[in-house]
Amino acid sequence: MPLYSMSPLLKAAEEHGAAVGAFSVSNLEMIRGVLRAAEETETPVILQIAEVRLPHAPLSLIGPVMLAAARQAKVPVAVHLDHGTTFQCIQQALDLGFTSVMFDGSALSMEENMLATRQVIELARPRGATVEAEIGVIGKTESGEDRTAVCASPEESLRFLKETQVDALAVAIGNAHGVYVGAPQLRFDILEAIRRESKAPLVLHGGTGISDEDFRRCVKNGIRKINIATATHIAAFEAAREARNYYDMSDRMEEAAYQVAKRHIGVFGTFAL
Ligand code: 13P
Repeated sequence: MPLYSMSPLLKAAEEHGAAVGAFSVSNLEMIRGVLRAAEETETPVILQIAEVRLPHAPLSLIGPVMLAAARQAKVPVAVHLDHGTTFQCIQQALDLGFTSVMFDGSALSMEENMLATRQVIELARPRGATVEAEIGVIGKTESGEDRTAVCASPEESLRFLKETQVDALAVAIGNAHGVYVGAPQLRFDILEAIRRESKAPLVLHGGTGISDEDFRRCVKNGIRKINIATATHIAAFEAAREARNYYDMSDRMEEAAYQVAKRHIGVFGTFAL
């Protein structure tokens, strides 16, 4: 199957009232487990890796593996750089053939974030790649650093969408990366207010630990991409601890990633392109 950018996947998800699962992968086992779940559920999926994870799995090595596995899959797959913070890394992902990139400008002012997002769009669009941006501050970074969460304002989100024409926007609504301390209190009112004015695809980060009910409510209110990282990594690690030898460990890690992806795809909604 050819590689897909995110847009056709997000559009099909919109038509089916679903969201695409975006699973962060760190090794071959996770890549294979996630794709097995996608094939079995006959649902498109996004394979992604965040810039902060590259010291463990350099993009020049894991990128081609992600792309090759995606091309071999029997379902449409987009290959995405998650939380790109430097133009250098975003450029490298595009040069490798990633079909989608995220520019994380959450540390910048709104104006700087919009300016940099537009520059990333200029790099990505000529290659047919899609761009995701972020607005507001998601509590806890992808690498686990604590930071004060700042929810996105609906007015600023709508302005961001209009002025950048970005393909997907990650909105901070009280979500956080990693393991939640206490049940997350998501601000559905923000999603509802954006949705009333725009059908642009919204993205939910920090999927690990969010209840199925909240996932469904997010999907109902315009979330079209949901990121899952910690759940897969915890499950793979726990599975590896039980292993008798290396090959058994590899099988168990793949199975763990498969189970996590399959469960989440079931909640986010199965659909074909
Ligand atoms: P979790 O690690 O909480 O699942 O979040 C994943 C994510 O949002 C990656 O960008």
